Amino acid sequence: MTNKAPTPVDMGKIVSLCQRRGFIFQSSEIYGGLSSCWDYGPLGVELKQNIKAAWWRAVVHQRDDIVGLDTSILMHPMIWKASGHREGFSDPLIECKNCHLRYRSDEVKEVQCPSCGGEFTEPRLFNLMFKTFMGPIEEEANTVHLRPETAQGIFVNFQNVLNTTRKRLPFGIAQTGKAFRNEITTGNFIFRSREFEQMEIEFFVKPGADEEWFKYWLEERLNWYIRLGIKKENLRLRQHTNKELAHYARACSDVEFSFPMGWAELEGIANRGNFDLTQHASSSGKDLSYFDEETKEHIIPYVIEPSAGVDRSVLAFLCDAHTEESDREETRVLLRLHPSLSPIKVAILPLSRREPLVKMAKEIHTDLRQPWMVQYDDAQSIGRRYRRQDEIGTPLCVTIDFQSLEDKQVTIRDRDSMNQIRVPIAELKSTLETKLAGEPFLVLPPGGKVLKGLESKR
Ligand code: GAP
Repeated sequence: MTNKAPTPVDMGKIVSLCQRRGFIFQSSEIYGGLSSCWDYGPLGVELKQNIKAAWWRAVVHQRDDIVGLDTSILMHPMIWKASGHREGFSDPLIECKNCHLRYRSDEVKEVQCPSCGGEFTEPRLFNLMFKTFMGPIEEEANTVHLRPETAQGIFVNFQNVLNTTRKRLPFGIAQTGKAFRNEITTGNFIFRSREFEQMEIEFFVKPGADEEWFKYWLEERLNWYIRLGIKKENLRLRQHTNKELAHYARACSDVEFSFPMGWAELEGIANRGNFDLTQHASSSGKDLSYFDEETKEHIIPYVIEPSAGVDRSVLAFLCDAHTEESDREETRVLLRLHPSLSPIKVAILPLSRREPLVKMAKEIHTDLRQPWMVQYDDAQSIGRRYRRQDEIGTPLCVTIDFQSLEDKQVTIRDRDSMNQIRVPIAELKSTLETKLAGEPFLVLPPGGKVLKGLESKR
C-alpha cells in the first residue's frame, strides 16, 4: 500500500453503516466475536450475491470461451504438495518474547515489539493453510487442508472439462467459492480475513500466446469494475516486481483499489505458465496434455489467472459508492451503487397506512417482486424512508399517495438526482425496467411530469 486514497471515505463510516443497516456483522458476536471472520446480513448477502452474479454473467454466460465449475473445499492432500502450497505457502513470522504477540516480519518496521517493546524471536516460516482431519481418527495420515485458493480445483479437473465440453484452446474455467488462510495479520474490516471468497478464472492458452492474453485480461478485468460503476481514479494496475512474484508466476499485476487505508490489491492477474498442469501431471501420473490439431503435437497449455476477492470487491464497491451530500440542514448519506448490485432495486412506499392505499401498494408490491428484489416499507415519514433507502443504495422508490387512487398514477423517485416522475401504474414496470437499465431520469414517459418538493412533506 502506498499513496493515500483520493476518495476521503472513512473506514469507520463504512463499518458503522454495514452494522447499522445489516450488511455485515462480526462473526460470533454474542460470544465476543471471532477474530477476522465476518457474517453477511440480509443486505450484505444480496450485495455479495449480486457481485458474484455480475462476475459470472460477464465471464461465463456472456462468453463462448469460458465454462463454470464448482469443486470441493477439501481435496486430496497430494494436491497441495504438487501445487507447492505445502512447502511454499508461508509467511515469515516473528513473535515477541515478552507478550507473545505475533507479526509478519515483512510488515513490521520496528526492531522491538510495537505493543510492549519486547525482543522478537528470529523469523520462522509459518504455513498459512488450515489443517483438519478426515474421518473419525485424528492422526497425521488423515490430515486434509481447507483450500487456500479455489484455483487448484480447476487444474485437477482440466481433463474432465476438456473431455466433456470439447473446448479448444484458448478457453477458460471459472469458479467462485470459499478459501481459507490462517493469516498472521488480519484487519481493515473484510479486507483481509481468514475465511473469504474468491472468483477465479484459469484461462488456458497455447504457449507463446500467453503474453498477449495476459494483457487482454488486465484490460478486461479493470474494465469490469469500471462498467459496474467504480470510478476510474480509484483503480490502477500495478505490476509485481520479480521479488514479489509467487512461486508459480512468470508475471503478475494487481488491480488495486484506493481503499480507505491506501492503495491495495483487489484482484491479482498472473501468468502461471504451465507450472500447475505440469506439477499435477507428474505428481498424479495422469496425462494432462492437450492435443493441438494444427501442429499434431501434445502440449501443456499455459495459464492466465485473473483471481479476484469477493469480500474485497464488496468493500471496494461500498467505499466507492459511499457519498455524503449536504441537503438543506442535514447530510444525506447515500450509496451510489450500480443498480445491478444494489441489494434492493425498488422500494414501495405508501404515503399512509390507511386503506384503500395499502391495498393498492400491496398489489404493486406483489407485481414488482416477480422480476426484482423489492422492499415494502410503510413505517415513519416519507422523508425518513427515502433517507433509509438512499443509505442502503436502493436506486428507485415508488410512492403511492391518495391521488393515486383517483388517477391510477404513482411517483418514482430517483436515488441519485432525487428527481421524481409520475407514471401510470400500467406503465410502472416497463418504466422501472428502463430506469434500472440506466435511462437518464429526466426522460419523461408519455404523460409524465416532474414533481418537485414531495420530499419536503416529511
Ligand atoms: N489463485 C491465486 C490466488 O489465490 P492471491 O493473490 O493470493 O492469488 C487472490 O488471492 C485474491 O483473493 C486477492 O486479490 C484478494 O482479493 C483475495 N484474497 C486473498 N487473501 C485474502 C484474505 N486473507 N482475505 C480476503 N481476501 C483475500
